[in-house]
Amino acid sequence: MNHPLEQLRDDALREIEAASDEQALEATRIKYLGKSGSISAWGEQTIESRTGQFRSQKESGALSEIDVTLPGIGRSGYSGYGGYARSGAGGYSGYSAKEIGSLHPLTQMLERSIQIFRRMGFALADGPDVEDEWHCFDALNMPPEHPARNEQDTFYLSDGRLLRTHTSTVQIRAMESAPPPLRVIAPGAAYRRDEIDATHSAQFHQIEGLYVDKNVSVADLKGTLEFFMRELFGPDTEVQFRLHYFPFTEPSLEIYVKSKALKKGEQWIEVAGSGMVHPAVFEEVNKASGDNAYDPEKWTGYAFGLGMDRLAMILFDIPDIRLFAQNDLRFLRQFA
Ligand code: DAH
Repeated sequence: MNHPLEQLRDDALREIEAASDEQALEATRIKYLGKSGSISAWGEQTIESRTGQFRSQKESGALSEIDVTLPGIGRSGYSGYGGYARSGAGGYSGYSAKEIGSLHPLTQMLERSIQIFRRMGFALADGPDVEDEWHCFDALNMPPEHPARNEQDTFYLSDGRLLRTHTSTVQIRAMESAPPPLRVIAPGAAYRRDEIDATHSAQFHQIEGLYVDKNVSVADLKGTLEFFMRELFGPDTEVQFRLHYFPFTEPSLEIYVKSKALKKGEQWIEVAGSGMVHPAVFEEVNKASGDNAYDPEKWTGYAFGLGMDRLAMILFDIPDIRLFAQNDLRFLRQFA
């Protein structure tokens, strides 16, 4: 079989001979030698396919040196979930710490908190940021006339849903999806139409907790949260529970901490809301599920909501909540 170029040459010569004037000759030139002419196209194709071969050889060569079945390489100095210290992974030198970046201080705070609760047997639960009013309010014993539902305080969508104003929504979703006993935490963002200042942001972060079982008492709630605060702020941390009011708990308690290890040393700081789950909340869940799984005569529970931005500000001594969202590397590098 002829080489394709021989065929092209014969065709070209024939057409050059046959050209009747200068214009026809130019057209033939373009057809065979122009940018998208036959010879260029033929050359392009072969060069492209050869380039492809080179590239894939290079890639498989590089891949053969990497064992993709090995676990990922963690960053040194970060002790997240089962991360491997970089130094321990055979001197892999592809990155410097600076290029990798680091976890945001709020993420670090969340991960530390989640680890403490997991050690106490809490499972992770989740729910949507865009929520319906029933999960955000009604189910939590906040009827339509409750002031927290005011449009001025909350971001509503045109279809009636809203950005959740707290992560307490997830305690309802967790109870809808599983019968008691139940022990969950739900980390996530919450939203409010607050005036933004050094301590208020339209988006902030919470960890909601819920424990439902037989004979759960205020003592269980206090023990769990005292342990959490001491793990976080140090063993000398003092924890105080002050009576308060929340619609979805009875009794309700606000939690304050004081720790010499902190910059704010001698000051009591409010860090969480909590309480014993109100029987009306169990009844709402039962009504929605069409059963009596959360029979308030049989089960009791405690719930709490921790303000993560607040906790991180205390722990890392951060003066202004807006710093979390400004993406200023001079701020973020301090937590690398
Ligand atoms: N949802 C409350 C808030 O955002 C915090 C809270 C208070 C959560 C008491 C709870 C609780 O689970 O029992 O202010």
